[in-house]
Amino acid sequence: MNSIVVNLSHKTYPIYIKRGLINEIGIEIAKIYTGKKVLIITDENVNKLYGKTVEISLKISGFNVDTIVLEPGEKSKSVDVLLNVYNDLLDFKVTRGDLIIALGGGVVGDLAGFAASTLLRGIPFVQIPTSLLAQVDSSIGGKVAVDLARGKNLIGSFYHPQAVFIDPNVLKTLSKTFLHDGLAEVIKYGAIKDIDLFLKLESLKDDDDVLANIDNIIYQCCNIKKDIVEIDEKDTGDRMMLNFGHTLGHSIEKYFNYEKYTHGEAVGIGMYSITRKSEELGLTEVGSAERIKKILIKYNLPYEVLGLDRDKILQAISLDKKNDKDTINIILLKKLGNAFIKNINSSLMNDYI
Ligand code: GLY
Repeated sequence: MNSIVVNLSHKTYPIYIKRGLINEIGIEIAKIYTGKKVLIITDENVNKLYGKTVEISLKISGFNVDTIVLEPGEKSKSVDVLLNVYNDLLDFKVTRGDLIIALGGGVVGDLAGFAASTLLRGIPFVQIPTSLLAQVDSSIGGKVAVDLARGKNLIGSFYHPQAVFIDPNVLKTLSKTFLHDGLAEVIKYGAIKDIDLFLKLESLKDDDDVLANIDNIIYQCCNIKKDIVEIDEKDTGDRMMLNFGHTLGHSIEKYFNYEKYTHGEAVGIGMYSITRKSEELGLTEVGSAERIKKILIKYNLPYEVLGLDRDKILQAISLDKKNDKDTINIILLKKLGNAFIKNINSSLMNDYI
């Protein structure tokens, strides 16, 4: 089993990566948790595929298990659903000595993590991410949140899990769209920090080849994220580099009401667009944008949207919560594998989209 340890000043926790891990999850949980009661939060799709496996494995290891099943999709990351989850957990007589398991993709992880961070002033939880995006990004680093009508992740906190258990085999049941969605974040890690990872993604033949190598790919991404989160847990410095492609990406998601593009697709468009602009401005090694475009095409990801209303996009960017007064931090590449943060006046954002 591959493992990585996230070392923070106030907490240390492991990330385990192993094919088939989900089948032995009870044994693994018993190594890190001495209580009896476990509360699984999952969604209908994941529950159908893996709910029973996880439940049985936990019961064999002697745990009492209750399960809360959410409707799949971003709409579940709402305050209304959160209130229902609090009530369900209280109906199950949850205490601070129990353990919550987030079993699912980013929506489940973010919502279950936020419920765990706030109910009874904090209940321990673990992440079992089942989408590629959650395995390489959202399950690590402690960002948990729910959305408001006016924007995503506006109510949230930093609350780290006790452990993250990643089973790459579960990706076999992921749709191609969501495999590629997660691959956009993998491409991002290569672009900002690891040219070898980028080269590897360029050299792999196809999705099957990606899946054959996915354990190592996930390990490399988790390692990059761990390093960044250890330096800058609260996202005031280096962690912002993880937002490469996200400034435009978030506004594209919002522009299309979160219906047309997945997060990864929108981020891919954002990565290509900002790199093309920064090349034109002489800030990025020439040829980088073309390689980003090629790799996005290779993994069936879009690289541009035609006919966008620029004013609306700029407005969405200026409303993004990451903006600090009249300046904005954007993430650019010096070259592939090497990113930097540039603080610009918001009025100059037009030059970068
Ligand atoms: N997903 C970006 C971060 O965790 O900071």
